Amino acid sequence: MSSTINTMLVEERVFGPFDEFAANARISGMEQYRALADEANQDPEGFWRRMAESELVWHKPFTKVLDESNAPFYTWFEDGELNVSENCLDVHLQNGNADKVALIFEADDGKVETVTYRQLHARVCRIANGIRAMGYGKGDRAILYLPMSIEAVAIMQACARLGLTHSVVFGGFSARSLHQRVVDVGARLVFTADAQLRGGRQIPLKSAVDEALSYEGGDIVEKIVVYKRAGSDITWNDDRDVWLHDIEEGQPEECTPEYVGAEHPLFVLYTSGSTGKPKGVQHSSGGYLLWAKLTTNWVFDAKPDDIFWCTADVGWVTGHTYITYGSLAAGLTQIVFEGIPTYPNAGRFWEMIQRHKVTIFYTAPTAIRSLIKASEQNPDHHPRHYDLSSLRLLGSVGEPINPEAWVWYFENVGRSRCPVVDTWWQTETGGHILAPLPGATPLKPGSCTLPLPGVDAAVVDESGNELPPGAGGLLVIRRPWPSMIRAVWGDENRYKTSYFPSELKGMYLAGDNAQRDEDGYFWILGRTDDVLSVSGHRLGGTEIESALVAHELVAEAAIVGRPDATTGEAVVAFIMLKQAAPTGEEAQKIANQLRDWVAQQVGPIAKPRDIRFGNSLPKTRSGKIMRRLLRLVAEGRDIDQDTSTLENPDVLKQFSGVY
Ligand code: PRX
Repeated sequence: MSSTINTMLVEERVFGPFDEFAANARISGMEQYRALADEANQDPEGFWRRMAESELVWHKPFTKVLDESNAPFYTWFEDGELNVSENCLDVHLQNGNADKVALIFEADDGKVETVTYRQLHARVCRIANGIRAMGYGKGDRAILYLPMSIEAVAIMQACARLGLTHSVVFGGFSARSLHQRVVDVGARLVFTADAQLRGGRQIPLKSAVDEALSYEGGDIVEKIVVYKRAGSDITWNDDRDVWLHDIEEGQPEECTPEYVGAEHPLFVLYTSGSTGKPKGVQHSSGGYLLWAKLTTNWVFDAKPDDIFWCTADVGWVTGHTYITYGSLAAGLTQIVFEGIPTYPNAGRFWEMIQRHKVTIFYTAPTAIRSLIKASEQNPDHHPRHYDLSSLRLLGSVGEPINPEAWVWYFENVGRSRCPVVDTWWQTETGGHILAPLPGATPLKPGSCTLPLPGVDAAVVDESGNELPPGAGGLLVIRRPWPSMIRAVWGDENRYKTSYFPSELKGMYLAGDNAQRDEDGYFWILGRTDDVLSVSGHRLGGTEIESALVAHELVAEAAIVGRPDATTGEAVVAFIMLKQAAPTGEEAQKIANQLRDWVAQQVGPIAKPRDIRFGNSLPKTRSGKIMRRLLRLVAEGRDIDQDTSTLENPDVLKQFSGVY
């Protein structure tokens, strides 16, 4: 923990306020920030009522703002009715923005396609009518396993239009992971594509769906709707499979929205926690959309002329909130990108910013770090060679951004003109929680700064007592907020125990360690559990361990993260086989086999970078694996920590080989 803090403190400059930016900002100066925050603190009900009434179109107005009677199962605006897709699309047709470009899609190979709000609305309506004609709607669940595309956004919106709860699975997850989610969420319908194109390669998707549905319980899915993206060969089952273009064919371009209660589950998104089974994070319709729109407007200072680019995939929460929902509700023009930052070369992001005159750019530290490295290796791809003068704001999300990367981003991409908003949030929070307001908050590289208005965040000890500045502790949110997680799908108990442990007396436990400084700024120190962040992807250590021990050769496995200059963390697996620990070529062969196995069971993104074999794992006398010691071994550091609780201190010596 202390080493993280030291790196954080290397950069002590404060950047901003940015006067030019503040002059035109929606929230300008700290007084305006404080006024909003004070309003929210003094009269939360009144504040949220005002926001929900002014930001959203309600079919039936709500009467009650927040119901805490069954805490921690909070409900917001519960008796109100609305439709999320109407709030993202129809509203813009009525306010004169029908011909404004909604999405600029850039394909992996560089082809560009744009759709206006009118066209996107028509497309969403056709798809929704097609789904409705097949007999699906409110109360059903659909799994989406799709490439980044206009279609992915349109299908999510079409589900929202029908009140059909969607669950998007990132294309980097395997058939096994897909199967687990299909069964857990109880999907009757799957949307996929023949294949996705990334970095000039075709990665099959439909075949993974076929495989997933062939496993036990997969027959719950009645239909697979296939978007023809790559034109690749796929296996076809006439009784079950339909083309997306066929269900759209002949459908009208209007579709009456299904009005749903504000608490209706808009989506379930699976994320890793501290057990082997991913959690289905359930979000609402009204409260979620309100915060998605508000934070888009506040944190990105959204303006009518902006060209917004969030580089996330819709398979993650960032893509849900800041591509499919918040940015459309806010009426932005935005980029949807199919490819990867390094194809055809590491100048791709900068070239796209130049080509599309992007004004707001939102990406992950891991992408920034990999592009820093690439531009050092090949200076031709350094951002200085591109015209980035359209940019006015930069954002970062997903993991702590180290001050060096922050300053590089600020100076080389933002040309020292653009504020950098480092946004801390989670799948469970639905939208930004700790983040600067770019026209107000002075910035400290490495800190996600202050809570947004309406958010009551704190750093506390294990009994819930607030800690003084400088002390590291648990990051909590003390009052409910509209876009908070509503449930872990199908598991009430897990929701309560994971997020509202009784010691914390009703506070939401984020699962991150943090500390505040003298100015109240938050500094995130990393997870409290064994959740890893690899290239900005949230992975459960336990999930990878369960996959490994399911392999016939493996007796026991422990996963830890080791810091990596580019990907943030790298997965390191300590493995005890049923046979004696292998060495040399045999070890390499088994390591590769196990990597492929993890790719198959969880997904290629979870493959261990390092594999280390031993004949036993370090355990306490009570039998718990000592991951903190394994972390030191993984980093190649000396074991100077206390090993007295270790059953057999020599056990650490056996892990010297890395495969
Ligand atoms: O540890 C925090 C880290 O990412 C976790 C949430 O991951 P996920 O649910 O996948 O959502 C990622 C996108 C919102 C958090 O518990 N994290 C996210 N943003 C930041 C961060 N850590 C530090 N700084 C951030 N800005």
